[in-house]
Amino acid sequence: MVKIKPQPGIMKIDLYEGGASQLSGQDQVVKLSSNENPFGPSPKAVEAYSISGKALHRYPSTSHGHLREAISIIFDLPKENIICGVGSDEIISLLCQTFSGQGDEVIYTEHGFAMYKISALAASAHPVVVKEKNRTADIKNIIEKCSEKTKLIFIANPNNPTGTMINYNEIQELAAKIPEQTLLVLDGAYAEYVDDYDGGLQLAKNSNNVFVTRTFSKIYGLGGMRVGWGFGSKSVIDALQRVRGPFNLSVPALAVAEAAIKDQDYVKKCKEENNATRDWFISSLRKSGLACDNSFTNFVLPRFKNQSQAELCDQYLQSKGFIVRRVDGYNLPDSLRITVGNRKTCERLINIIDEFLVG
Ligand SMILES: Cc1ncc(COP(=O)(O)O)c(C=O)c1O
Repeated sequence: MVKIKPQPGIMKIDLYEGGASQLSGQDQVVKLSSNENPFGPSPKAVEAYSISGKALHRYPSTSHGHLREAISIIFDLPKENIICGVGSDEIISLLCQTFSGQGDEVIYTEHGFAMYKISALAASAHPVVVKEKNRTADIKNIIEKCSEKTKLIFIANPNNPTGTMINYNEIQELAAKIPEQTLLVLDGAYAEYVDDYDGGLQLAKNSNNVFVTRTFSKIYGLGGMRVGWGFGSKSVIDALQRVRGPFNLSVPALAVAEAAIKDQDYVKKCKEENNATRDWFISSLRKSGLACDNSFTNFVLPRFKNQSQAELCDQYLQSKGFIVRRVDGYNLPDSLRITVGNRKTCERLINIIDEFLVG
């Protein structure tokens, strides 16, 4: 009999499936499966990377002082309320580990990002899924599912893989109505793509029960560096810092993220390019006869007639060297999630999708 057993919940975890990056038999592929920035990182971040190579024998800073300082200046936040992690994935995991355990509930929504469930189970907490309305989080449904066991609520705003979002008034209402032992986590992985939206930072500044996570993997084009950060009340940050590994971020990761966040002109340029191409892409998909919600992110989610048509279109795109993302695991089997590439890539994609549809 096996006596060495993992903690409760661990064996219920379905392994996270990242976006594919290769197609067998093809050496030239266009990867549109992981919501990466097609323009890559700021040249200033690349330069910082090469300079950091001279200090690889040194341990990195445990306090992340320079990076937190840079974040605090850009977003006008107190530095001591910021924590940095190995991608926002690590912040999500630290939140679950620190604030939930066996017997506790962690809420996320029907088409919510996969790491919420994985991290809740890894902490032996019970994941609770809440129904969405038209592929959008519904605060009424969330409030109804709250109980004295609810410790965390995760909402990606905008959400992956739907690209939809709820407005500031709804977020505020939710924060005001959740139980007093519950922390509302607003995942702002795509917040930079939204006009006049701070990802909930202002609300988190003024409320002890709201926490915001952010990433360098999307608009900053640094998925390969693995850096994210979180912002919340002093007491939440104080607890998270005790659980975080002291050297979680490497010397290059810290240097590159600091250079990237200081280059807000580059972020602005990427946002403008992405949003213009995305909106053109969505209207072209609609003209081709596919339903598609407005997206507030750097990806789109066209819906096909049914699962079989989505599968066949995916195969057709693969035969032409394009890798997009199936989202069956998100309970969206009739859809494909496609990262917005540069304008030329999106024009080619539309032509291929049209070819497929007229078949
Ligand atoms: C909504 C959302 N949150 C968090 C993440 C995790 O990002 P990272 O760990 O690269 O910061 C992703 C990545 O796809 C995401 O889509």
